[in-house]
Amino acid sequence: MSRRARIFLKSAVWGVALSPLALLLYRFLTNQLGPNPISYATNLLGDTTLRLLLASLALTPLRILFGIAWQMSLRRLLGLFAFFYVCLHFTVWIAVDHFFDWGELAADIVKRPYITVGMLALTLLVPLAGTSTSGMVKRLGGKNWRRLHRLVYLIGLLGVLHYLWLVKKGVNDPYLYAVILVVLLGIRLWDWARHKAWLGVPTWLHGGHSLIKTANGTRGG
Ligand code: HEM
Repeated sequence: MSRRARIFLKSAVWGVALSPLALLLYRFLTNQLGPNPISYATNLLGDTTLRLLLASLALTPLRILFGIAWQMSLRRLLGLFAFFYVCLHFTVWIAVDHFFDWGELAADIVKRPYITVGMLALTLLVPLAGTSTSGMVKRLGGKNWRRLHRLVYLIGLLGVLHYLWLVKKGVNDPYLYAVILVVLLGIRLWDWARHKAWLGVPTWLHGGHSLIKTANGTRGG
């Protein structure tokens, strides 16, 4: 992909990723946050976190299914935006919903399973955000870095569980997210199994190329 196309693509991601925040600010400034402004803000920020997480998780399956790789350069950006939004989501919960009442916050984390799971997802996202730079990839080594960053699937799972546990009966959105996550995970597992089977085939049968190359080299995320 040309430098120009890459810049255009990244600018588009910036625009799309920041639009929920712009919407929130606009509604705040124009007094349109509805009857429960805290809930509106928390939910908008939570939804955006989950969408960005799933978008970042969809990049590798897209490569597996269609053999395209240009989207891989967006992985870090989408992951960092997901982290940015979950930090805002968490800040609203601490500062606006509970006014820094640490006792109440701790009790909530222990008593409410959906909060426990959300906290776990947020905690696991911290090392991923902290190791997202090229310098950290080098320092950890590609293999270790990829292993660590596979945690994002668990984080996605925890995010969906968090949503499933907090939502009222009759709301189907979390099930939709769950189906998307299962499909994305299924594609990764299918790819993994296919490579494993291929690696088990004697070299004299496949000549040591094609799938083998991707299995050792460019796979990741
Ligand atoms: C990766 C981590 C997280 C994800 C993906 C996530 C996602 C979500 C989603 C999708 C919703 C529901 C949105 C809706 O109903 O439209 C939500 C609501 C909520 N989340 Fe999270 N969340 C995460 C972490 C957290 C953490 C760490 C906390 C606090 C400790 C938290 C507290 C809440 C609360 C209190 C609500 C309910 C708001 C309300 O209904 O008034 N979340 N979150």
